[in-house]
Amino acid sequence: MEKYSRIERAADSESIELDSVLERYRAAVEKAIRNSQFQESPLSRDAQGVMEAGGKRLRPVLVLMSCEAVSGQFTTSLPAAIAYELAHEASLVQDDIIDNSTLRHDKETVHKKRGVSAAILVSDLLIFDIFNQLAKYGSSTLSKTRIVQLMSYIARAAHLTIKGEFLEARITKQPKITEDDYLEVAGLKTGALMAAACASGAVVGGASEKVTDAMYRFGYNLGIAFQIRDDILDISGDATELGKPVMKDIQNNACNIVLINAMEKADVYRQNIINSMLYKKWFALSDMKGLVNLLTELNSIEFASKLAEKYTSFSRECLKSLRGSAAKDKLVALTYALETRKA
Ligand code: IPE
Ligand code: IPE
Ligand code: MG
Ligand code: MG
Repeated sequence: MEKYSRIERAADSESIELDSVLERYRAAVEKAIRNSQFQESPLSRDAQGVMEAGGKRLRPVLVLMSCEAVSGQFTTSLPAAIAYELAHEASLVQDDIIDNSTLRHDKETVHKKRGVSAAILVSDLLIFDIFNQLAKYGSSTLSKTRIVQLMSYIARAAHLTIKGEFLEARITKQPKITEDDYLEVAGLKTGALMAAACASGAVVGGASEKVTDAMYRFGYNLGIAFQIRDDILDISGDATELGKPVMKDIQNNACNIVLINAMEKADVYRQNIINSMLYKKWFALSDMKGLVNLLTELNSIEFASKLAEKYTSFSRECLKSLRGSAAKDKLVALTYALETRKA
């Protein structure tokens, strides 16, 4: 507690803006993306477009911040950071096919614009470019053991993310989804990549095994909190601010913790209202407002916010083994900023 009391106090008095925490690291990520062009091919422009359209760049920023927190600098972790953004963007291209979503980062999704076949191939281009990024460590001073660790972390994270996406599709066919089911899916589909991003930053920064494991757990818990907040924003967020549609989870009957909690608490009448909105292609504004009111009445949005806070607090616990530094303070600030993010 006393180790990051300054940040704790800041978080108490005012909410920490996500952009202000990410800013400096994001500039380095954007520059590295612009400097690493795809090999010329008919789809390379689409792949570059996906990378440049960008978003918050949270996973690469986590790599950089974690490296800085253990070593005092982040430059050496830039190739690993870009590798994680490639994995993330590839997962979004695929997720948008799965979720039949037409907008991402304020732009038409790849499958909407170019068709599903092209989108699958674009995601392949993104995934295989991860090797190019990690290959850059071949000419660095990073040991062979650490380069192999980087490869294992990202490969394992991809495996777990895929498992999570598949599990989500399977679970939603069950008559009842529990909070535990949800947490398993969120941990896999979102936590695993953030966990591996943090651990990889630590690996490049030369951290011990103990600190690297702590950073992995930090990212895993933060990822769960992040997904919970994403679920809240899917219902009560603003599509323009988010750059992606809202109400997708109810349309797709996807695992959304707010809806899961509401179904658990609702009487049959309210359950029927929620069920009647599943798979709807289109919502009137009054439908959306009605749903938000109902979820507010059931305290389900509040419940989800509290659950997200529980996981950001778990993530802060994992940072206790890190020695004090400005970069550590930034990681702590990030956990608070994610609790209230709007985009
Ligand atoms: C979206 O992630 C997918 C989830 C895991 C919820 P982000 O919100 O980090 O995506 P960006 O910032 O738009 O790239
Ligand atoms: C997707 O979760 C997580 C991954 C990309 C693996 P969501 O389906 O909730 O993400 P959004 O809301 O489309 O960004
Ligand atoms: Mg989606
Ligand atoms: Mg979502």
